[in-house]
Amino acid sequence: MSGPVRLGVLGCSAIARRRTLPAVADIPELTTAAVASRDAAKAAEFAVAFGGTPTGYDELIADPEIDAIYLSLPTALHHEWTARALRAGKHVLCEKPLTDDAARTRELTGLAREKGLVLRENFAFLHHPQHVRVAELVAGGRIGALRTFTATFGIPPLPAADIRYDRALGGGSLLDVGVYPLRAAQLLLGPGLAVAGATLRSDEELGVDLAGHVLLVSPEGVFADLEFGFQHTYRSRYGLWGSAAELSLDRAFTPPAEHRPVLRIDEQDHAEELTLGASHQFRTSLAAFAGAVLDRGPDEPAWLDAADETARLITEVRERAVRVRG
Ligand SMILES: NC(=O)c1ccc[n+]([C@@H]2O[C@H](COP(=O)([O-])OP(=O)(O)OC[C@H]3O[C@@H](n4cnc5c(N)ncnc54)[C@H](OP(=O)(O)O)[C@@H]3O)[C@@H](O)[C@H]2O)c1
Repeated sequence: MSGPVRLGVLGCSAIARRRTLPAVADIPELTTAAVASRDAAKAAEFAVAFGGTPTGYDELIADPEIDAIYLSLPTALHHEWTARALRAGKHVLCEKPLTDDAARTRELTGLAREKGLVLRENFAFLHHPQHVRVAELVAGGRIGALRTFTATFGIPPLPAADIRYDRALGGGSLLDVGVYPLRAAQLLLGPGLAVAGATLRSDEELGVDLAGHVLLVSPEGVFADLEFGFQHTYRSRYGLWGSAAELSLDRAFTPPAEHRPVLRIDEQDHAEELTLGASHQFRTSLAAFAGAVLDRGPDEPAWLDAADETARLITEVRERAVRVRG
């Protein structure tokens, strides 16, 4: 197809308002063609702010003028609405995580494969070039043999009415922030990670986990030690600890667009900092999605495999976790 891709926005969410739709406006290959809400007044307000025709969910899915859907509903609704969009022949950029479970994710990736449609999970951090630099340094031997990957994503408590505290909507810290360290471990250690242990701290009344700690092992024997939660000061970082040096990156998952990342390398008697260029990772994620819809390059099977792998890890962590009270 020739561009621009006509995007339908499913759900007038906070993330759509704050990050996604302002970035869409900067991408010539994408245009906001319709915005759907359960609330007509909210859809109308979004349409004024970002363009597109205000509409409802069912009407959006049925609209033949829409090529692709950006879906940012609460996580428990991702499966149903992604499946409906794919069955209607639309490409989908779904907010992370694609679903909360391995079988449900496989159903969606299977549908995308069968129909030849683009289906991506919007882990925007994967599109920041800082991780490419990290991978190059590790592959080039800068830290020696990699022994352990550590990653943390923690945020302070949220307002009580937030969807993340609602079990029925797919709440909990594993699905919200925990998926970032899991996906980063996949990115830097490769596929086939085994879950060696996990703990989840849960609020019994709410029925959601508020924090967690996961130990993974790669097929090569590298450990991954991951922590996340809603009960912390803000921390978004990872480190790669090798036989010769340790490489660490702060603000790894949600760096502001203007932030210039600093990679720190610590050796026994020497420390070095490499300052990299800033990047707007929401913009690059959206541009990559639009490019995939327009060109159907060779990368899509790898994106689907990675989504399946993340969902397998989520499921295994939940099954294996030792639960403690929040
Ligand atoms: N990639 C990232 O960096 C990033 C960052 C934040 C969030 N996210 C993901 O984006 C998704 C939405 O997060 P958010 O913080 O933007 O949430 P939010 O502001 O609560 O938005 C969720 C939207 O879903 C729609 N919705 C449909 N049924 C609903 C229900 N029963 N209860 C509440 N809302 C319902 C609502 O839109 P209408 O009222 O218009 O129908 C609502 O605005 C989550 O999957 C989250 O993990 C991703």
